[in-house]
Amino acid sequence: MFRFVHITDTHIMAGGTWRIRGTDVEFDTDASLRRVVETVRRLQPAPAFAVLGGDLASPDILHRERTLTPAEYAPSYARLREILGELPCRAHFLMGNHDNLEAFNRALRPEASVPDAPCYYSFDHDGTHLIALDSHEPGHADGVLDPAQLAWLARDLAAHRDTPTIVFIHHHPWPLGHAWMDTMTLRNGGELMAMLAGQAQVRWVIGGHVHSEQLIQRGGLTLLTTPSTCIQLSKVAGPAHFDPGPPGFRVVDVEDGSLSTFVVHVR
Ligand SMILES: [Fe+2]
Ligand SMILES: [Fe+2]
Repeated sequence: MFRFVHITDTHIMAGGTWRIRGTDVEFDTDASLRRVVETVRRLQPAPAFAVLGGDLASPDILHRERTLTPAEYAPSYARLREILGELPCRAHFLMGNHDNLEAFNRALRPEASVPDAPCYYSFDHDGTHLIALDSHEPGHADGVLDPAQLAWLARDLAAHRDTPTIVFIHHHPWPLGHAWMDTMTLRNGGELMAMLAGQAQVRWVIGGHVHSEQLIQRGGLTLLTTPSTCIQLSKVAGPAHFDPGPPGFRVVDVEDGSLSTFVVHVR
């Protein structure tokens, strides 16, 4: 048995706080991530690794009027790295729509071959195959997987046909029935899920982006989404409503290819 944690939508913005849409509430995303990390440190058994599900840094929220440069993102990624340095395990990172690829690679993926190398990859842990996808498209709130990434995914799946596999992605590939959030899905989510449905070794897809805990099951596939470590989105569609926390993350226990999972809300 091994355990991992899925921590997502940390939205670190160095030098500012997140003013919640339509309110005067200023939310400190640093402080809420620190509380999550502190809680992860107390888990027994301890996680073998963490998966960070995207929207990791978002100073863009402080400057919605223009596109920020990689240099302007750098302090937020440095802050993120400092906070995550307290995790009791190593971390794997995904891109989200608010992230900046070049600054992300520089801070979190020194192994990236070129500064703008897309962030998709896979790894193995104790008999389980884990795939991280990159649904980020610069300048877009919704997401997409380009043909090169889909071709890579097909090859990766074929090479691990006999290994239980968990897939991570930032954007939700199936709509949730939430009017506002469903304007920002993975645009070719149907194509991705059809591809995964043809792979008996894949049963679980874990996403972020929607700032809420959701579960959708179709055929042999289950899509789980994890709450944010900061602001949460009401599940009641229209008009969209945000709440200041509570910070959340997901714990996943894997045993013989089976998975059990729960969400922790930090009070
Ligand atoms: Fe987010
Ligand atoms: Fe997002």
